Amino acid sequence: MHILVTGGTGYIGSHAVVELIREGHTVLVADNLVNSTEESLRRVAQIVGQPIPFVNVDLREREQVERMFQAQPKFDCCMHFAGLKAVGESVAQPLRYYENNLNSTIVLADVMGKHGCKNIIFSSSATVYGTPDHIPVTEDCPKGIISNPYGQTKSMIEQILTDVHTADPGWNVVLLRYFNPIGAHPSGLIGEDPTGTPNNLMPYITQVAVGKLKELGIFGNDYDTPDGTGVRDYIHVVDLAKGHVKALQALERNCGVAIYNLGTGRGYSVLELVNAFMKATGVNIPYSIKPRRPGDIAIYYSDPSKAKRELGWEAELGVEEMCADAWRWQENNPQGFQ
Ligand code: NAD
Ligand code: WQD
Repeated sequence: MHILVTGGTGYIGSHAVVELIREGHTVLVADNLVNSTEESLRRVAQIVGQPIPFVNVDLREREQVERMFQAQPKFDCCMHFAGLKAVGESVAQPLRYYENNLNSTIVLADVMGKHGCKNIIFSSSATVYGTPDHIPVTEDCPKGIISNPYGQTKSMIEQILTDVHTADPGWNVVLLRYFNPIGAHPSGLIGEDPTGTPNNLMPYITQVAVGKLKELGIFGNDYDTPDGTGVRDYIHVVDLAKGHVKALQALERNCGVAIYNLGTGRGYSVLELVNAFMKATGVNIPYSIKPRRPGDIAIYYSDPSKAKRELGWEAELGVEEMCADAWRWQENNPQGFQ
């Protein structure tokens, strides 16, 4: 298939490009580089042994998006990774988040429809469940109260794309709800490259490991969990990327709107992950216990069985690979892609 990968220079999109090329698809990556660099695609090219076509496009700019579609053979599908994604920043800059994430999706979907490309796979998030109704979280768990604008944009975009399908059943929409993507490509060439101090656990750990940060703060050890620290469903980014390739099957059988959790189904606490990292890498991670982080919940992990049943996808890599690969990337690239 010929696939438009928006946000394809970013963390997850770049890993998806690797898996798409490996499976024989052709891609065009579209990104405005607001949170990434083209260097990631030069690295992807090194991994797959061929150059990756790229256009610098801001998806909110209709003329740019139109031009991109006109210059290309018809896309069979769009994988829509592009968006701003920092939870804390979205609380501080709500308008920027709503404006960027919603407008880019609206322009993209409109131009796609006009050019007869009515298949989209969207990067949604488990955050749309809010405090989930039940654990493990299944896809029929109702959406919950979402405490930040970033998560709201995910939920709203799910609704917008669902409405697009309702208006025109020719559309197929796959909503992939990611749990906690971590890790990096085993080559050590691509990985997560956060700007500034990381907000998420694994990049914080790797930056402590490489000496950029002094110690990890663990946000709370008084949760109702086996060791008191928060439990999450960490998923290797390569498994996540493969889930996107498998999701193409849903489009091929005209799925309408289909929702899939992408997780492992296994929860790890913060302390378990820190210990797994030290074991997998031999690097010590100093930490101290800090107060709970506002908005965090105690436990959160997926029931990923629907993706296995319907797409034949399940996560294959465990927490050891997640830690070893995250560390290989960080150790080889202490300054990320710079
Ligand atoms: P990322 O920031 O590395 O990649 C997103 C890319 O989108 C960036 O390269 C950025 O430059 C681009 N972008 C943003 N606005 C754009 C615009 N208007 N036009 C063109 N490009 C634009 O983030 P990621 O971690 O790779 O996440 C990819 C997607 O997955 C995002 O939609 C994110 O919300 C979603 N997601 C991520 C996680 C996670 O933990 N990383 C979890 C759930 C969902
Ligand atoms: C994991 C655990 C923290 C940092 C976020 C988004 C979610 C999704 C994935 C996009 C929690 C603890 C963390 C630190 C810590 N993204 N922690 N010290 O919050 O589960 O999910 O990323 O859609 O929407 O909210 O991930 O990695 O921030 O935290 O103790 O320095 O690690 O309290 O228990 P989270 P995270």
